[in-house]
Amino acid sequence: MADPFLIGDKMTGGYGGADILHGCTIAVERGEIAVIVGPNGAGKSTAMKAVFGMLKLREGRVRLDGEDITTLSPQARVAKGMGFVPQTHNIFGSMTVEENLEMGAFIRTDDFQDTITQVYDLFPILKQKRHQPAGELSGGQRQQVAVGRALMTQPKVLMLDEPTAGVSPIVMDELFDRIIEIARTGISILMVEQNARQALEIADKGYVLVQGANRFTDTGKALMADPEVRRSFLGG
Ligand SMILES: Nc1ncnc2c1ncn2[C@@H]1O[C@H](COP(=O)(O)OP(=O)(O)O)[C@@H](O)[C@H]1O
Ligand SMILES: [Mg+2]
Repeated sequence: MADPFLIGDKMTGGYGGADILHGCTIAVERGEIAVIVGPNGAGKSTAMKAVFGMLKLREGRVRLDGEDITTLSPQARVAKGMGFVPQTHNIFGSMTVEENLEMGAFIRTDDFQDTITQVYDLFPILKQKRHQPAGELSGGQRQQVAVGRALMTQPKVLMLDEPTAGVSPIVMDELFDRIIEIARTGISILMVEQNARQALEIADKGYVLVQGANRFTDTGKALMADPEVRRSFLGG
């Protein structure tokens, strides 16, 4: 069978001590939304870091569009078309919104003004606030800056670690709508979410991770309908 567009395949590794990931596989197809859920400490962020090249794997491979990128640096992965919004420290708070977007374009040597315009079309509030320090924005707006920054390299796949952390339900819905819009342009989305129900609702594919391993994998819809998944991971 053909590989998914991006796959972290049977990943095992950790931070130097005991392994955190135990043969964990996460993947996303072209233009689709894949969502990773699971309890705190399950290794969701670690799996994302591994796929982005921030963690050395002891076993397993990462492939992008059929190419083995396991040994590439994060920056080389960005050049290959990957964008990553980490769970924390994902913007420069003392820099303006627009400076954050410009920083996001760091690997580009062409004119990226059109991409800034596209980000402002997607998140109009950022255009209004473009000269304000990003750190002064609301939580939801800061997450928009983080996503916008990652879009500046025109990625083929966008990885988001808890993009809706700490925002209100309304802002979360709004952000999910924008993420769906991004996916519709053909960009694959690989996303970790604490808001498991809402995220699985928009997911083509869902992964439930527990203790660094895959517990359940199915379509978002099927996971939502699975009584055991509901009981154990979705609060009934
Ligand atoms: N930089 C780090 N160094 C050592 N251990 C870490 C580091 N980051 C996370 N861990 C450990 O790895 C495990 C998984 O963490 P993490 O991937 O952040 O989980 P999740 O994102 O699912 O909440 C936890 O036991 C955590 O303490
Ligand atoms: Mg995490």
